Amino acid sequence: MGCKRFACAVCALVMVLASLPFFGCSSSAPEQKPSISVGVAIYNGDDTFISNMMQSLTEIATKYEQDTGIRVYVNLTDAQENQTNQNKQIDRFVSMNYDVLCVNLVDRTDASYTIDRAMDADIPVVFFNREPVQEDLQKWDRVYYVGTDPAENGRLEGQIVVDAYRADPARFDKNGDGIVQYIIIEGEIRHQDAMIRTEVSVQTLKDAGIELEKLDGGIASWVRSQAAALSDQYFEKYGDQIELIICNNDDMALGVIDTVERRGLSFNNIVGIDGTPAGLAAVEQGKMLGTVVIDYAAQAKLIFDLASALAVDGDPGAVTTIGADRTVRAPMYVVKADFIP
Ligand code: BGC
Repeated sequence: MGCKRFACAVCALVMVLASLPFFGCSSSAPEQKPSISVGVAIYNGDDTFISNMMQSLTEIATKYEQDTGIRVYVNLTDAQENQTNQNKQIDRFVSMNYDVLCVNLVDRTDASYTIDRAMDADIPVVFFNREPVQEDLQKWDRVYYVGTDPAENGRLEGQIVVDAYRADPARFDKNGDGIVQYIIIEGEIRHQDAMIRTEVSVQTLKDAGIELEKLDGGIASWVRSQAAALSDQYFEKYGDQIELIICNNDDMALGVIDTVERRGLSFNNIVGIDGTPAGLAAVEQGKMLGTVVIDYAAQAKLIFDLASALAVDGDPGAVTTIGADRTVRAPMYVVKADFIP
């Protein structure tokens, strides 16, 4: 829903780019660009985290216009989880000579199409959220990636559970066997964040000396309703044996909470990642242990700062620190329920 509203706001911002004065600009153009055009391609507008981030991006673009006097034309396209759609959207941006592309790939292993088109047209690219492989990122020195460090996401998520466990081990050991029986609910199978978050969050518990037993686990592709359905099966099958549910993101944690509430259970040993407004509200209401806030507004700011610097031919290194791996890592922090120290 957020994204549909956002898309309308963007429509209002987007002009017929071909008729803009800077298109095909001649050598008599003033040194300071009067406007910049930013083509933004997202993998799926129904994704809560991405749609929140895009909302922030438009607000940041508006503020930039006010601060600099440079007009910003943001055109947002939604691939609806189809890489072929996204490739066509990229072709269109390139054919209209956009100043910079910001791309949230559908398939993170399929970045070369975008990079090759962009290189031919000399249009810089800022990938975000779905990290291309290093081989692709190293193809051209005008390609960047903005995202969080998924290992740190997982470590912080695991640490929320460690803190809660240390404060009250009994909360995680209903059957008194000294072992935490857990379930893991994962994001998309090929998404780097899902794989790494899962591995590191579980390892963080093990490293803290917590004995674990995995009861079950499955993929809900970041989606609340899928996690609700999956956790319903798990509660049906394992009932009270479940002592902890680790989710790769907040929307899936919220799906588990939907099931808990529908079944009338009192279970809140649930953790997530993202810090979406709904996720934070659930933590505040004590419906889950905590979340790792991937500050989407801060991430949108990094994406925009980098993109606008590239678009006005600025030095991207002046606006943020770019690693040798061509990535920029966005900050994150933890929010825990108030019963956890
Ligand atoms: C977020 C998920 C989101 C996914 C989209 C992840 O980093 O945590 O909520 O669905 O990115 O690619």
